Amino acid sequence: MKKASAQEFFRPGACKTASDADVRLLAMIKSAHGEFVSGEKLSRELGISRAAVWKRIRGLEEAGYRLEGVSHKGYRLVQSPDRILPEEFFGHLSSRRLGRRLSVLDTVDSTNRVAVEWASRGLVDGTLIVAEAQTHGRGRLGRCWIASKGKGLTYSLVLTPNCTLAEVATITLAKAVAVAGYMQRSFNIEARVRWPNDVTVGTQKICGILTEVSAQADRIDTAVLGTGINVNGIASDYGPGAVTLQELTGKCHDRNRVLAGILSAFEPWYDKVVSGKTASLLDRANALSALNGCVIELITHNHRFRGTALGIAPDGSLRVADAEGKITNFHSGDIIQCV
Ligand code: BTN
Repeated sequence: MKKASAQEFFRPGACKTASDADVRLLAMIKSAHGEFVSGEKLSRELGISRAAVWKRIRGLEEAGYRLEGVSHKGYRLVQSPDRILPEEFFGHLSSRRLGRRLSVLDTVDSTNRVAVEWASRGLVDGTLIVAEAQTHGRGRLGRCWIASKGKGLTYSLVLTPNCTLAEVATITLAKAVAVAGYMQRSFNIEARVRWPNDVTVGTQKICGILTEVSAQADRIDTAVLGTGINVNGIASDYGPGAVTLQELTGKCHDRNRVLAGILSAFEPWYDKVVSGKTASLLDRANALSALNGCVIELITHNHRFRGTALGIAPDGSLRVADAEGKITNFHSGDIIQCV
């Protein structure tokens, strides 16, 4: 299994929290839409010296931005790299703690594996580990998660929710609700929660979630919430049954903005889970459910069950009625949607 080399990413103790000045500098240069912004204006508005502006411009160039500097005119942005960049990401993030510490990796086997390993050595709640590519992305039920480099979002969030093992299902559900809600609000697409851990549009999948936990007795030490989102590119850049945001909206999307938007949307739902106030989450999950009222086939490790999905129960399980009307609550399983 390929291990990421030290220079490919920041180590756990060195996660980034982009400086406010870098975020604002970039925002000012970007909002000029390719026109020059004078060094004097940047220095004045950021409250730093001209030399400090120059140093930060060099830092942005090292991060992959192409900037042009002309004396008496200032600086202008020529090209932004299509990568997850702290200066861009933090500029869009409105959460208080989720994603406030960030590690961006280039290529790694699995962000979940890295997150589990780093978390065992201690990480702050809400630390985010993102990779541009994964060589062994993990999916549910031992499957692989496929995504072409730099097209989608593949990331893991390290959480220390102080909840029981039974409550973990609601964290996954909260994430699916946040993703589906964000997609509906921001892009006007019919994204739905497909229990237990997918977000779908029609019958196609746009997001998958894999939560891995370490626990002592029944209490969670750490939950690693891994998420893959098909943002740019076409379905064949991803696994079977996929659809992308680009295909659905007809344009490419800024992955920094999408990632920050989703984390910002997730935090209030996560807070509800942590404080045990999940009633509104369940209402929302049921309103967004792709399955409620549908005939489904649910496959567990030892049997196949056919019935009508009635809804998601307070513990995050799926209530399914068989042909005789007998209701069973399922805590996991693979779903085939029939009608
Ligand atoms: C599924 O639908 O089966 C869950 C897929 C979860 C994929 C994400 S990509 C980022 C994170 N790292 C992994 O190795 N897997 C999750």
